[in-house]
Amino acid sequence: MSNIRLAIAGVGYIARIHAQAARKLADVELTAVVNHRQETMAAFAAEFDIPRRYETLEALLQDGDVDAVSINTPNFLHAPQSIAALRAGVHVLVEKPMAMNAREAEAMLRTAEETGSLLMVAHCWRFDKEVRWLKQQMDRRAIGRIVRTKGFGVHVNWGPKGWFTQKRLAGGGALADMGIHAIDTARFLLGDPLPLSVYARIGTHYGDFDVDDTGTLIVTWDNGTYSLIESGWWQPHADGPEACTLLYGTCGFARLFPTELTQIETPGGAATRVDPRFPRERSPHCPQAMYDTQMAYFIDCIRQHRTPVPGGREGLINMRIVDAAYESASTGRVVPIQPSP
Ligand SMILES: NC(=O)c1ccc[n+]([C@@H]2O[C@H](COP(=O)([O-])OP(=O)(O)OC[C@H]3O[C@@H](n4cnc5c(N)ncnc54)[C@H](O)[C@@H]3O)[C@@H](O)[C@H]2O)c1
Repeated sequence: MSNIRLAIAGVGYIARIHAQAARKLADVELTAVVNHRQETMAAFAAEFDIPRRYETLEALLQDGDVDAVSINTPNFLHAPQSIAALRAGVHVLVEKPMAMNAREAEAMLRTAEETGSLLMVAHCWRFDKEVRWLKQQMDRRAIGRIVRTKGFGVHVNWGPKGWFTQKRLAGGGALADMGIHAIDTARFLLGDPLPLSVYARIGTHYGDFDVDDTGTLIVTWDNGTYSLIESGWWQPHADGPEACTLLYGTCGFARLFPTELTQIETPGGAATRVDPRFPRERSPHCPQAMYDTQMAYFIDCIRQHRTPVPGGREGLINMRIVDAAYESASTGRVVPIQPSP
């Protein structure tokens, strides 16, 4: 089978991680790079030995000879770049949040369905080995029926700068950037239930920008569970690291980072601790291995021509929760979400 020719759009922080992941795969060829700034693009192309360079994705698509693209640009470019690539028959791995809002996300999903090109959304925590271990435990109902979860997407005493803090380029702030990790991780561990409603309090308290840096959400799911989600930048404290999720079941408690669970046969009965012996301190918290597994999965989906999960559907559901949270915060009301995909 011939190599998969992969292009990288954007040459910033996460583009480098994806390029590192791709070059570990023997059947992937880093064929082109796209960036609006020549200088940084040239340095990136030299570092990863990428032969072709383009200032716009459209120019690359016109030239052709590319099978897939990894989109790592600011959020306002995710939808137009993904849609252009999908229409050109190029498979897409797009960073989270998949779009500025659910309306854009719907258009992306529709385009993938119409064209048959694959759309994957880089909800990376689904590829972390501790998250996957815990998912297996939840699938075998290790703590019974899950009653509620709590999860965090919070930066303590720091936050991003530049385009991340401008609404017209990013769509949203800490919720769209970090809270979405906690939302997706909770949803994954719960077996991908559909959201029914969101209540949120969201604000800006630590910076001079037009996006949020502080958020608390309650999401109710169609399986009867609910999730408390915290998002933040520049927070004075976080109860857990990025994507840390706590699950409270009828027969026990489970958590990520540190990852472990406690089983209790009956309320008040003896407790048994299950410790999978992952390192207590992760360094770095977001390991390259998680992104390597994610990239290998994307490439495998292309080879097998199967719809990736997380794909456009999972990304869209997360965007609906984010949109509903912003609406709830502005109206002060619980916002229902249509359960249909
Ligand atoms: N999954 C994760 O762990 C993770 C981590 C970081 C970022 N991300 C996501 O990846 C995406 C990129 O984030 P990043 O941290 O790499 O950002 P970054 O600022 O480091 O890189 C952004 C890239 O886009 C280019 N760019 C900036 N403004 C542009 C414009 N106006 N037009 C065209 N190109 C422009 C920059 O030149 C740069 O190459 C975001 O959507 C972010 O949410 C995901």
